[in-house]
Amino acid sequence: MPLSIRDTLQLNSGRHIPLLGFGTWKLKDGAQVKEAVATALKVGYRHIDTASIYDNERGVGQAIRDSGLPRSEVFVTTKIWTDDIRKGRSGVIEACHDSLERLGLSQVDLLLLHWPIVGKDREAWKALEQLYHEGKARSIGVSNYLPHHLDALIQPGVSVLPMVNQIEFHPYLLQPALAAACRKRGIARQAWSPLMQGHINEVPEIVEIAKQHGKTPAQIVLHWDLQHQVVTIPRSSTPKHIAENAALFDFELSPADIAVLDQLDRRQRFGPDPDHFDF
Ligand SMILES: NC(=O)c1ccc[n+]([C@@H]2O[C@H](COP(=O)([O-])OP(=O)(O)OC[C@H]3O[C@@H](n4cnc5c(N)ncnc54)[C@H](OP(=O)(O)O)[C@@H]3O)[C@@H](O)[C@H]2O)c1
Repeated sequence: MPLSIRDTLQLNSGRHIPLLGFGTWKLKDGAQVKEAVATALKVGYRHIDTASIYDNERGVGQAIRDSGLPRSEVFVTTKIWTDDIRKGRSGVIEACHDSLERLGLSQVDLLLLHWPIVGKDREAWKALEQLYHEGKARSIGVSNYLPHHLDALIQPGVSVLPMVNQIEFHPYLLQPALAAACRKRGIARQAWSPLMQGHINEVPEIVEIAKQHGKTPAQIVLHWDLQHQVVTIPRSSTPKHIAENAALFDFELSPADIAVLDQLDRRQRFGPDPDHFDF
């Protein structure tokens, strides 16, 4: 049971990732992302998720430095964009170096291939393995990989297994076959768009459970992630929401609550389908 904002999940590498993280997609570089990350760190988040395509790595790095927290206390994730994956091994290595430069860090805690690029994934993964062995990335993983993408990647010759698969995950999209494929290989799942991109308050069953617990719908769904041992990375630019989304550790969902949430799956995506995207 998640008991504290400092709770972590052990990855298949033996390293630990904080179960609660802070998402930064759409937060603009400069004041907006700096203020949001600063607020998040102040209320106790110790895990920040960015990506080169978010174009805010400079602000994220600055906010972490400004917080005065030791580097070792903040878990930082970034991701390699599709254009760089398509360039092959050297493109991935260069993209990682560029991200580190913008973040002002000598290593990230987690480096992900942002989307599967069929035919290029294995070469890109070799580059991630190199970056992992060089210590530029303390853990490596993938994002938006479906079971068939994992099968194609994890072939003889792969010396390091992905540690994480960051996927769209919320009560309307459970992807049970993908969960099983990750579990089989000891790959941790990380939930993106855990708050259904802000539509969480529109689901009557979630609103009802929230009322019963005296919590908000966002808190119910984020707690449900944690009880499922799915790392979750809600985003917010609103200080009240940033704090609310971290105040998750003074209640428990009952097995009956969890069963209600587990049955809401509609296979509904708010983001692109990993088998059909055009970027
Ligand atoms: N790997 C990938 O391909 C991928 C794709 C998408 C996202 N991600 C990562 O996952 C993170 C989270 O996903 P997301 O940004 O798509 O969406 P999200 O976290 O599901 O939802 C963010 C939206 O929810 C609202 N919100 C936040 N807290 C709330 C609360 N307590 N009550 C009501 N509304 C609330 C926010 O508005 P306010 O700002 O007003 O609070 C914002 O509009 C991203 O930021 C990014 O780091 C990764």
